[in-house]
Amino acid sequence: MKKSSSLNGLGKWAARLCGAAALIALAVPAAADTLSPTGRWTAYSRGAAQLPPMGWNSWNAFATDIDEEKLLASAQIIIDSGLAKKGFRYIDIDDGWWLRRNQPDGRMVIRTANFPSAAMPDGSTSFRPLTDRLHAMGFKAGIYSDVGRNSCGQIYGPDLPNQPQGSIAEREVGLYGHVDQDIKLYFADWGFDLIKVDGCGLRGLGETTEKVTSGRFRAFTPIVDSDSLGRTDVAAVRKLYTEVGDALARHNPDNDFIFSICIWGAADVRSWAKDLGSISRTSEDISPNWSRMLHNLDSTARRPLYAHPGSWNDPDMLFVGSGEFDTDHLTEARSHFSLWAIVNSPLMIGYDLRKAPKALMDIFGNERVIALNQDPAGNQAVLAFDSGDVSIFVKTLANGEKGVAILNRTSAPIEATLMAEHLKFLADADVDLTNLWSNERLRFKGQQKFKLAGRETLVFTARGTRRLADGIYLSEQPGSVNPAVDGVTVPEAEPLVHRALLPWQNTRATREPPRYGGWGGAQADSSPYGQQLTIGDKRFDTGLGVLANSRLEVRNAGYGRFTATVGVDVSARDRSQPVSFAVYGDGKLLTKTKPIKFGDAPVAVTADVRGVKLVELVARTPRPMRFSDPVVWGDAAFQR
Ligand code: GAL
Repeated sequence: MKKSSSLNGLGKWAARLCGAAALIALAVPAAADTLSPTGRWTAYSRGAAQLPPMGWNSWNAFATDIDEEKLLASAQIIIDSGLAKKGFRYIDIDDGWWLRRNQPDGRMVIRTANFPSAAMPDGSTSFRPLTDRLHAMGFKAGIYSDVGRNSCGQIYGPDLPNQPQGSIAEREVGLYGHVDQDIKLYFADWGFDLIKVDGCGLRGLGETTEKVTSGRFRAFTPIVDSDSLGRTDVAAVRKLYTEVGDALARHNPDNDFIFSICIWGAADVRSWAKDLGSISRTSEDISPNWSRMLHNLDSTARRPLYAHPGSWNDPDMLFVGSGEFDTDHLTEARSHFSLWAIVNSPLMIGYDLRKAPKALMDIFGNERVIALNQDPAGNQAVLAFDSGDVSIFVKTLANGEKGVAILNRTSAPIEATLMAEHLKFLADADVDLTNLWSNERLRFKGQQKFKLAGRETLVFTARGTRRLADGIYLSEQPGSVNPAVDGVTVPEAEPLVHRALLPWQNTRATREPPRYGGWGGAQADSSPYGQQLTIGDKRFDTGLGVLANSRLEVRNAGYGRFTATVGVDVSARDRSQPVSFAVYGDGKLLTKTKPIKFGDAPVAVTADVRGVKLVELVARTPRPMRFSDPVVWGDAAFQR
């Protein structure tokens, strides 16, 4: 799909940005109040995504060339092959189902030529027969819309089939101006269980674009520029998605719904989706090639603290089966599936299963890898080693074991050494690995060398002796840590994401910029800017890194003591203000340090958290800061 950013209306943007700057200046004192403890876990918990959703979606397989037969054929194969029993539950219709918005009542009309069961005897259309059928097969059903007036297919894919028809108003099939009406129709009337809400209508229809000047579409002043956070109205985008989320809650009193936010990592969504939706895309569209897979993976990889039971990072749907992940590339296909599993991505098959050979079905059906993804503790893997060549992901499982994936990002064979330390296991005790693809077992002490083929990912579960015999490091349980306030005052793009070519742009631009907000956010086992946590001379290989003027909510599963070593990180740039570190239990102050300056020695913090359900960690400066310094909750842990 061809997508381009609109460079018009710069004057308007400048005016808006000045306004935004004034607002931010005014907002600083009020923002400080958000550091007061609430005693509540505030990450998103509406909806039905306690675990990453699994299923099938039409887009990667068929683009907009979809119909009922194709959908039901893949659904049937999911049952017959046993994949349904293994957890693949959602069957999602993507772009291409709509015919028009009826006028003047605004009711959406389904393309019955492709979905014959939607034709009602009275001439109206309804997806109820299809969702009834899917439900009777044991599935959940998903639908697709856009938060703007128009769809991605209309704006970026003029050659795609099955585009909406009729007058300008009839072709405005997106939710904008119809949120309540459409959500009620899709959920209460038609019986869907999931909605993916795209955002193409928020960009690409500026007044001077050809789509608008030609008279074919109504203008929509762009509020998203995927190339530039500075030209994006983050608050306005967030507000539109909030309205959809509220409508979903209204029309789904049983909470059995999934809200899939699809704003492709733009508008700083990686920071706020954890408060608003069940799954949220962290990047632009995946393509069936290795480089884009790495790009999408990276967009999620450094955000484990921003994913929790109820709300997950979504690096996009699986492309297993296509392009560089087809049966001639099973190493790559297994890598893709293993990596999506370990970062707690939704597992949405994007393949026409009618033509899937056994080798592919075996990948989708690997129960050990699925179990890694669906582990009930809901901890997204943390990067235990991070480089451009090799990444090592470690995920703490509910039973205390670890999942580990060693990824060779390069195309050449490579050697990589897994250390007991990567797993937070003792180096002088046995570590037992089970390979999740071959089921082979292996035992080592201290460290173990592996030879990886080009683009290979080795994925294991690991049993060993935990370094913290009677407790857990907070960075081992990112699914139970919510950065309610992460101290970021101005969103910045993360520069560490592999910058793959955008397929619809290639090199027809001056650069591929870092594009996804989230840089400077809270990190497990790393400073907010990707360095080792360090206070003065003391380096920490575990802990939480976050900016000052932050508040972390931490769920406590029955531990008695909180311990950490705190201070200002050596990467601090401003250094003008001291930081005090406070620990709250269910809203009450448990302990607080004196103000600690940059260069001061690390300070030990302990708090009695017996009987406390929610611990809050607050790092605060005496006066608000425009750009807060990074601080360290070193070795932060719960102990019995
Ligand atoms: C994109 C979205 C894709 C697909 C497509 C449909 O914006 O990221 O996943 O839904 O639109 O046109």
